[in-house]
Amino acid sequence: MTTMTTTTKTATTVLDASGVTMRFGGLTAVRNVDLTVNAGEIVGLIGPNGAGKTTFFNCLTGLYVPTEGKVSYKGTVLPPKPHLVTQAGIARTFQNIRLFANMTVLENVLVGRHTRTKEGLWSALLRLPGFTKAENASRERAMELLEFIGLHTKADHLARNLPYGDQRKLEIARALASDPGLLLLDEPTAGMNPQETRVTEELIFAIRDQGIAVLVIEHDMRFIFNLCDRVAVLVQGEKLVEGTSDVVQSDERVVAAYLGTPFEGAPGAEEVAEVEAAEAEAHAEAEATEAEPTEAEAATDDDTSTTRTEEEDTR
Ligand SMILES: Nc1ncnc2c1ncn2[C@@H]1O[C@H](COP(=O)(O)OP(=O)(O)OP(=O)(O)O)[C@@H](O)[C@H]1O
Ligand SMILES: [Mg+2]
Repeated sequence: MTTMTTTTKTATTVLDASGVTMRFGGLTAVRNVDLTVNAGEIVGLIGPNGAGKTTFFNCLTGLYVPTEGKVSYKGTVLPPKPHLVTQAGIARTFQNIRLFANMTVLENVLVGRHTRTKEGLWSALLRLPGFTKAENASRERAMELLEFIGLHTKADHLARNLPYGDQRKLEIARALASDPGLLLLDEPTAGMNPQETRVTEELIFAIRDQGIAVLVIEHDMRFIFNLCDRVAVLVQGEKLVEGTSDVVQSDERVVAAYLGTPFEGAPGAEEVAEVEAAEAEAHAEAEATEAEPTEAEAATDDDTSTTRTEEEDTR
């Protein structure tokens, strides 16, 4: 596999990961990956299942200590400790949602805020006396964030009662509560319907417009290619290609290793529509035939029509 290690470094580089390698025993999940994210950019990270995308995020955020390589944020090498990475200015969401299910929406955001307040995590959770002023400021900021992502009317709801799409949005609000300069999103639209996905796309543009750089993992190619200034493709732990959406979409190696066919609209949508139309036609024809029963059939019509409906229901 030809590995392309070109990165686009500028004076405003926010994230600079160089030579990041992560081995688990005999398995090299991430191999010598270089990636930069510059101020004002939305960068995509794509690749097949098991390509090493989440592992790479874990290396960036200190959850894993990379076997080799280093990660810098705004020119300073980051220690591989999650709380220090958050304090430095990198926030993330998780592929598998990690909210405090039995806390309210607002409390979840307040937890995300604790790295930026003197009173710390426990006073945020327990509301210890003596911290009222700081707590009020935190609440105000948390409510602002909830309004920004459109969950302010649900501030008192328990996180576990939110619809799936709202839980993903709440994760983003919690990440934003730490006032990051870089936001890492691991499959932010997984499980969302197309409308929720479009709303999330707008949300990410709005986050970028607030001066927060974004690095996003997604399998939804329409979403990625609409959103990103640059896209990097990981395959079997290695960066195969990096470039603008146009460059990546038309790269033969990416098509062969991941995309399958050049992206245009929803993949397979035409075929699905054709099959559905044919099925609907066949169904209509069958119904038309059944609507004209013979005299013998008409005599026992009630029973047979019930059976037919049940069969149709289980398809
Ligand atoms: N803690 C771990 N210990 C051992 N192997 C791991 C660990 N974490 C990840 N892996 C392995 O590393 C490889 C990359 O996994 P990773 O989750 O990073 O892929 P991914 O690109 O995020 O895939 P997906 O698109 O399915 O989320 C896989 O083979 C996975 O089994
Ligand atoms: Mg993953």
